[in-house]
Amino acid sequence: MGAIFAAAGSAVGLGNVWRFPMEVGNNGGAVFILIYLLCILLIGIPVMVCEFVIGRHTQTNMIEAFRRLAPGRWWRIIGVLGIFVAFIILSYYIVVSGWTLYYTYSSFRGMLMDKGCDYGAFFNGYVSNPWLSVLSAMLFMVMVHIVVARGVRGGIEKCSKIMMPMLLLIIALLVLCAFSMPGIDKGLTFMLKPDFSKVTVSTVLSAMGQAFYSLSLAMGCLCTYASYFGPKTRLVSSALSVSSIDTFVAVLSGFIIFPAVFSVPGVDADAGPGLVFQTLPYVFNMAFEGVPLLGYLFSGLFYILLFLAALTSSISLHEAVTAYVHENWCMSRHRAALLVSVGTMSLGVFCCLSFGVLGDVTLFGMTVFDLFDSFSSKVMLPVGGILIAIFVGWYLNRDLVYMEVTNNGTLSGRFFGLLFFLIRWVAPLAICTLFVKGIVEMF
Ligand code: PHE
Repeated sequence: MGAIFAAAGSAVGLGNVWRFPMEVGNNGGAVFILIYLLCILLIGIPVMVCEFVIGRHTQTNMIEAFRRLAPGRWWRIIGVLGIFVAFIILSYYIVVSGWTLYYTYSSFRGMLMDKGCDYGAFFNGYVSNPWLSVLSAMLFMVMVHIVVARGVRGGIEKCSKIMMPMLLLIIALLVLCAFSMPGIDKGLTFMLKPDFSKVTVSTVLSAMGQAFYSLSLAMGCLCTYASYFGPKTRLVSSALSVSSIDTFVAVLSGFIIFPAVFSVPGVDADAGPGLVFQTLPYVFNMAFEGVPLLGYLFSGLFYILLFLAALTSSISLHEAVTAYVHENWCMSRHRAALLVSVGTMSLGVFCCLSFGVLGDVTLFGMTVFDLFDSFSSKVMLPVGGILIAIFVGWYLNRDLVYMEVTNNGTLSGRFFGLLFFLIRWVAPLAICTLFVKGIVEMF
C-alpha cells in the first residue's frame, strides 16, 4: 500500500488539476479526453510496468539501472534523458507550484472571497509581478530542497497516505458543487460530447504527452520508486491502481473546472496556464454563496491540498535528479540537492518572468515557460517512452520480464502475452508514428 501511495503521490499533482483541464481546453474537450484514456490504457500502463520491472529488478537509480542491465551499451542514454527531462520539468513545475502557495496565502487572507472580483485580472496581475512570482517559486523550492536534502523515504510515504484520500474527498465534494453552476450544461457537453472533426495529429500527440506527464513516466521517478518495492509487490496491479487514481483525479478536475469556465464571463476554455487559477475562486464563491465561512475554509483547504500534491510530485522529480548526482558524481546528498535546487531555480526564474517582463521573448512562437512545457512533454517524454518500451520488449530477456511481472511465477501470467504484445509492438509503434507526424505537423 505504501509503495502504491508513494507512486500515486508522484503521479497525482499539478498535472491532474492544472495541466489536464488546460490541455482539454486547448484541444477541443471530449475528444481529447477519449484519446487520453486510450493512451493511458494502451501505452501508459504498459510503459509504467516496464519502469517497475526495471526499477525492482535492479534496485537502483535510473541511469545505473540501465548500466547494469546492459553493460557497456548505449542504453543508459535513456536514463540520462529521463534525468534531463526531470530537471527541465522541475524548473517550470515550481513556478506553478509557487502559484498554489500564493493562492493558499490569498485564500486565508480572504482575498478570494470577493464575489465581484475579476479573478482573471487578479491572476494576471499576480503572475506578471516579477517579485511576487519569483518569490513564491523560490519559497516553494526551499521547501522541496529541505525535504530532499534530508532524505525523503518515511515522510513522503506517510504524507501521501493521508493526503491522497483527502484530496480525493475534497475534489469529489467540489464536483457536486460544480453541478449547481449555471454553466453545467455547456460544461458537460464540452467534456462528454466528442467532436471528431477537431482531431489532428497534434491533438493525439498532446494527449499522449499528457498521459506520460500525468503518470510521471519516462523520467526515472517511477523507476527509482520501484527500486524500493518489495518482492511481493504486484507490478501490474500496482500500475493499474496508480493509473486509475491518477486518471480519476484528472477527469474529476475537469468536471469542476468546465462548468465553472462556462459560468464565468470573460474566461475561455482555452485560457491556458491560468485556467484553473482564474475559475476556481469563482467556484468557491458561487458554491457557498449563503455561507461564506464555508467557502473560505473550503478554498483554503483546497489550495493547501493542491500545494501538497505539487510538493510530493516536485520532490519525486527533485529526488530523481539528486539521487543520480549524489551517487554518480560522488557528492554528499546535501551538496547534490543544493546543486539541483540552484540549477532548477535559475531556469525557473526565466519561466516566472515569461508571464511578465519576458513575455515578448519567444522561440517557435512560444514563451520560455510554454517552450519548456511543450518540449518536455511533446518531444522528450515520447522519445523516452519509445526507448523504454523497446528496451524491455526487445532487449531484455522475455523470461526476466515474465518472472518480475508474475513475482517469480507465483502470480497468474494469463495476461502476460497481451501485456508483452503491447510493450513490444503497440507502444513503440504508436508512440513513434504519432511522434514523427506530430513533429512534422508542428514545423
Ligand atoms: N505526474 C506529476 C503530475 O501530474 C508530474 C510529474 C512528472 C511528477 C514527472 C514526477 C515526475 O503533476
